[in-house]
Amino acid sequence: MSTYCTAVSEALAALEESVIEDFRKTLRERHNTLAEPLMWEECRRQARAIIDDIVQSLRQAWDHPDDKAIDLSTDVGTHRAEQGVNPAVSIQACTALFDVALPYIRKAIAAAPAEQAEDFLAVALHTFNRSVGHRVEAALRAYHSFLLQQAGEANCEMRRGMARDIHDHVGNSLATAMRCLEIAEAEAEAEAVASAEAEAVTSGEADPTADGSAADPSKDPSKDPSKTVDRRESPASRRLHAAYDAVQDALGYTRTLVRGLRLRIPDTGIESSLRDFMDSAAPESTRFEILVTGDEEWVGTELRYELFIALRECLRNALAHAEAGAVTVELDIAPHEISAEVRDDGTGFDVWAVAAADSAGGGLASVRERVRLMNGTVSWLSSPAEGTRVVFRVPNLRKELGKDLRKDGHKDVRKDGRKAQAAV
Ligand SMILES: Nc1ncnc2c1ncn2[C@@H]1O[C@H](COP(=O)(O)OP(=O)(O)OP(=O)(O)O)[C@@H](O)[C@H]1O
Ligand SMILES: [Mg+2]
Repeated sequence: MSTYCTAVSEALAALEESVIEDFRKTLRERHNTLAEPLMWEECRRQARAIIDDIVQSLRQAWDHPDDKAIDLSTDVGTHRAEQGVNPAVSIQACTALFDVALPYIRKAIAAAPAEQAEDFLAVALHTFNRSVGHRVEAALRAYHSFLLQQAGEANCEMRRGMARDIHDHVGNSLATAMRCLEIAEAEAEAEAVASAEAEAVTSGEADPTADGSAADPSKDPSKDPSKTVDRRESPASRRLHAAYDAVQDALGYTRTLVRGLRLRIPDTGIESSLRDFMDSAAPESTRFEILVTGDEEWVGTELRYELFIALRECLRNALAHAEAGAVTVELDIAPHEISAEVRDDGTGFDVWAVAAADSAGGGLASVRERVRLMNGTVSWLSSPAEGTRVVFRVPNLRKELGKDLRKDGHKDVRKDGRKAQAAV
């Protein structure tokens, strides 16, 4: 086969322009939006790169899509998401490219003897399949990641809006109500003092032994109306005070709610937030380790937040249900994927039974839903003898950081996990 490699690959390279021209024509005939001027340039680059991959493979110089292919596909996926182009349109374009390219590939292969044609065709089709497959995968990841980020931002914006509304409307009204109650209480108190004074004056006048001293509070403190009037004694005052306490509670709760809605993962990141959580929530009898490989800077803010919430729920469960002696979190962050595991050596549980039970809490379901939104997977592996492992895999997409990483080589920034003090 090798004698004809160069001839066949050069023949295909020479046909490349025609393939691209026909490809655009076919896209137009099939009313595919990627043929439109704004979309075409990127689509053309992808198609050309796929044909180039086939040319290289026929020359036996192609193994798998390189970084350039992944970067280009990532850009394409992001742009298509920005432009609101459905991924189905890209898949249809791949089909069109295959339909168009196949006759040209056959034509190029005709440069080789008939008995070798099948081998060349197999190589070309295999390459087409792999090149397109990898590019589509990278583009879809980027597409999904863009939507996820947008959903995260919308979610964040919505929470900020709710926090604002609760603060500005509910909080403000409650504060006003509290102020009114304070005033009403003060007025009721003043009124009670005044009427007690009036009563004292009346009873002083009526006192036959009065020499004035009985009505003088400085002489008999027990007769000082401001001291003897207990505003709680009057039912109206009591009710006012109860209302004041209730409004104060509601105001406190509103503040907590607003803070919660505004809560983002602290700038310090997943690792230290988990550490803070364990420091405050883990009993002294539980050792814990948090091991991080990679750099959190490679994870977008929204993803970081979602991950933190999901991992924290697993830790919460380990602390609440497992009676574990040791709990470990391992987090491995790579530019294209994040994997994590939360392990405990506790009692374990029957995962299937819990999943099937109506009475189950919301924690596992919420972790599952969050991970699904991140386009990842999560599984619980648990047995009474071995405790519980929760294993996460979530796609990450930080291509610009990925590029830096490829330049620098993979930095291992594993940090030593700290053991809780007084661990037993
Ligand atoms: N690490 C674990 N070790 C032992 N049992 C666990 C563990 N994680 C979960 N479970 C079991 O799974 C059940 C469901 O957990 P889930 O988080 O859904 O609810 P919950 O923790 O009971 O309540 P919530 O999270 O709503 O406060 C728990 O009640 C517990 O029985
Ligand atoms: Mg729980």
